[in-house]
Amino acid sequence: MLVVCELALGLSLFALSADAAVAIPFQGKRDVDTRYPYTGPAVPIGDWVDQTVKGNGKGFPRLVEPPAVKPANSTVTNNVNVISLSYIPNGVNVHYQTPFGLDANPTVHWGLSPSNLCNSSTGQTVSYDRTPTCSAVVVTQCSQYFHNVQLDNLAADTTYYYQIPASNGTTASQTLSFKTARAAGDQKAFTVAVLNDMGYTNAHGTYQQLNQAVSEGVAFAWHGGDISYADDWYSGILPCESDWPVCYNGTSTNLPGGPPIPAEYDAPLPAGELPNQGGPQGGDMSVLYESNWDLWQQWMNNLTLKIPYMVLPGNHEASCGEFDGPNNILTAYLNDDKTNSSAPKSELTYYSCPPSQRNFTAYQNRFRMPGTETGGVGNFWYSFDYGLAHFVSIDGETDFPYSPEWPFVRDATSNETLPTEAQTFITDSGPFGDIDAENWKSNEAYQQWQWLKQDLASVDRTKTPWIIAMSHRPMYSSQVSSYQTDVRDAFEPLLLQYGVDAYLAGHIHWYERLFPLGRNGTIASSNIVNNNTYYTGDGKSITHVINGMAGNIESHSTLGDDPVLNITAVLNQRNYGFSKFTFHNATTATWQYVKGDGTGYGDQLTLLKKNATLSR
Ligand SMILES: [Fe+2]
Repeated sequence: MLVVCELALGLSLFALSADAAVAIPFQGKRDVDTRYPYTGPAVPIGDWVDQTVKGNGKGFPRLVEPPAVKPANSTVTNNVNVISLSYIPNGVNVHYQTPFGLDANPTVHWGLSPSNLCNSSTGQTVSYDRTPTCSAVVVTQCSQYFHNVQLDNLAADTTYYYQIPASNGTTASQTLSFKTARAAGDQKAFTVAVLNDMGYTNAHGTYQQLNQAVSEGVAFAWHGGDISYADDWYSGILPCESDWPVCYNGTSTNLPGGPPIPAEYDAPLPAGELPNQGGPQGGDMSVLYESNWDLWQQWMNNLTLKIPYMVLPGNHEASCGEFDGPNNILTAYLNDDKTNSSAPKSELTYYSCPPSQRNFTAYQNRFRMPGTETGGVGNFWYSFDYGLAHFVSIDGETDFPYSPEWPFVRDATSNETLPTEAQTFITDSGPFGDIDAENWKSNEAYQQWQWLKQDLASVDRTKTPWIIAMSHRPMYSSQVSSYQTDVRDAFEPLLLQYGVDAYLAGHIHWYERLFPLGRNGTIASSNIVNNNTYYTGDGKSITHVINGMAGNIESHSTLGDDPVLNITAVLNQRNYGFSKFTFHNATTATWQYVKGDGTGYGDQLTLLKKNATLSR
């Protein structure tokens, strides 16, 4: 069949040649701050405590993952290691990563037939000063140049084929394909995959089930933060938390399935694997921050080059670490470059991490969400439509009053414009949007809140009767924490005002489905049809689900002796997995928690809307 080429309208605003592919500062409201010098090791490595430690865990892949494109020859000098797709309005952003620059503007050939990729679109390259640089890492295991090519003005619900051509030593990709989003108002049923808190360790079952879901036609994946757990590079340094059943440095005796440690973790490293990419005996995490990102992204290529993979920020994307352990050995290491040492107290500050590992830098470069195109900001807050649903990604980490990651304005005393070094915290980040700093305690002072209000107000419910919101942080849980009040105060009134159907979150490493809740956790009994069926979207209550059990090195959260609160309908502290959300029509949707061990569903919930009027 003759295929008539579409006009290639996907030209991006900026195009950099490889020679000019220098770092482009993120166009946020605060970039990485370097007022105080970084005084730690040039490349923090987490395996200096015990070079003989075994990676542990059971049944998980080794920390050597294939690149997205298999090199054409063994003397590879540059390579496409990661390919990931995301939605933009009326199109798709093709994101790909290489260790070194290209010799031309990043380019994607594409078309409606795999044999006729007659369109070409070009985009832009961004980079950042990662440590170590890719010149110190295996070519097929490292990403330092991040390319984004937008294919826009595409037809809805249509399969397109694409190829990334060779450039500056890379090998051309195979011809790949994706399917565009259905237009808002398309009434056909569809399913999406929702996951949170994944990383590498403990996530193999989730990974298998996710790939199964992709093969069954899931439209896209939506990952609500805590993505690669790159910041747990130091888990070879710090003693494991007592409630982490799996721990890189072997200090835990509570392995899944119990001892003995599987034989595969005693095997020598495969040829070409560097000891600092997974520890001397392999293992579950890389001991380098950046390599954790590289490896996780390469692991996920199977999914991300086939379906759009939409992400939003979690606390583990913020910086190189969150807190110190006993004897403050991380303080001694990062602040004073002293290995096997200790410090009298934790003095981790914003300046303790290498500059490239602060302020969500890796997260900003390694993904390309449609913030700019939907009135939001970067990869932090944005929205998109698919068929009968409007999806809203909310930044639950920064850019609202008392956000868990703080802007400098909160560290500064009243007569300071900026905090001193000691007044900062290691996870200080943002703001990424405007804040009226004088009124930072008020929701209305935040660009994110203003955007959310406007975004929700503009939804045409006759086209997208379903509105689903997600941020990394839950508003309610039986594991009560003060941040939940802050997230509620920031966003819950708007979500109720505009009749949002469900609020999804992660952060707590378990599965918890709550009863439909009104303002301040009032159980909306009238919206409970039965244990597995709720009414939604009437502005009186929202369905809340904590879906934080995809995997990760920190393992499951546990409630211990604390009570399960009456707001909690289902709590699972044992199974890893993800959830499938199926929108059948304008009034019925089903949520299914897929257990990673392949034994079926851990929970099923039907959501019903009493009223929905569709436009014709
Ligand atoms: Fe988290």
